[in-house]
Order: sequence, then structure tokens, then C-alpha cells
Amino acid sequence: MKHIAVYPGSFDPATLGHLGILKRATKLFDEVHVLVVHNPSKKPMFSSAERLNMIKQSVRELGIDISPLRFSTLESGLLAEYADIHGAHALIKGFRTVGDIEYELPMSQVNNDLSGVETIFMASEPGLGYVSSSLVKEVSSLGGDISKYVTKAVAEKMREKLDAD
Ligand code: COA
Repeated sequence: MKHIAVYPGSFDPATLGHLGILKRATKLFDEVHVLVVHNPSKKPMFSSAERLNMIKQSVRELGIDISPLRFSTLESGLLAEYADIHGAHALIKGFRTVGDIEYELPMSQVNNDLSGVETIFMASEPGLGYVSSSLVKEVSSLGGDISKYVTKAVAEKMREKLDAD
């Protein structure tokens, strides 16, 4: 049986924390779907296509094995439904702090109710537990150095976006 997982998120933009989780997930599953999910409660800086493209570029830049990866977006509908349709048994979620668990636990339980999909929590790498997409955007917009938190591809795209605004 093929072991398939979905790694969902806003990824606005993906950080080195996200990419670390993704790299480790490729070692555990035969197929990992990176799913950029539209979250109506957030106003993203990048379109879904831009976010997906930055992840692909970052995967290449970091030398992550691309063969188990599939890339997709979910503009509407349930994550559990996407998992069901694609035969995925697991959702991958990274957790950084205890706060993440409080937020993630109810979602994992509801997703399991909806389709039986399991959520696998992976601890973020030491040293990246405090990084979030919002903090990266804030530091970048105020002229700070974000090279510790994102790939060169993401840093470049953020600079372009901020210069255009
Ligand atoms: N490294 C760095 N940052 C991380 C991280 C890591 N390893 N893990 C989480 N984060 C940060 C993200 O950067 C993001 O930061 P931000 O708030 O500053 O943008 C934050 O944690 C939230 O993570 P994210 O993966 O973007 O989750 P989200 O809450 O935006 O999205 C979905 C959660 C998309 C998976 C969820 O809303 C969903 O499933 N939606 C589909 C609809 C659905 O099925 N709803 C029912 C759910 S039960």
C-alpha cells in the first residue's frame, strides 16, 4: 500500500521551518501533497499560485527530494475531503509551541470525524520554533534581514513584492 500524506497550510510564505517539516515528511511517506490552502480569515500577501511557486523553488534550492512531492492548492472545500479524494491517510502538521497544539488539536479531531484521516504532528527543528510567516513578513516590510528564516527564492520574491507596493 502506498502511504500518502497531505501537508496543508497557508504558506504565506513558507519558511525554513515549514520546509524542514516537509523534508522530514518525504522520508516517512511515499507521496506527500503540499497543499496551499486558502484561509478566509487571513489576508495573504501572495496569491496561491505565487505561494506554491515559491515552495517549488525552495524545494529545488534546498535539494529536497522532489519525487515523492505533489503540489496543489485548495481554494474552497474541506481539507478532509481533499485527503479522502486523494487516498491520503495522514495530514502532516508542524508544531512549534504548546500554543500550536491547543489550536491544532480540535482541527485534528474534526478532520478525523469527517473522513477518518489521522493528523501526524512533527516537532519543529530546534532554533526555528519561534518563526512564523507573519513575523517574517513584518521583519521584511520593516527592512530587516530574513535570510535566517526563508530561502533565497522567498527572500527575493518578498523584496520584489515590497518594492512593487
Ligand atoms: N514553521 C514556521 N511557521 C509555522 C510552522 C513551522 N513549522 N508551523 C506552523 N507555522 C505558522 C505559519 O507560519 C502560520 O503563521 P501565520 O499565522 O503567521 O501566518 C501559522 O503557524 C499557521 O499555520 P498554517 O499552516 O498557515 O495554518 P493556518 O491556520 O493558516 O491554516 C489550515 C490551517 C489551512 C490547514 C486549515 O484552516 C484548514 O484545514 N482549512 C481548510 C478548510 C477546512 O477543512 N476546515 C475545517 C478544519 S477542521
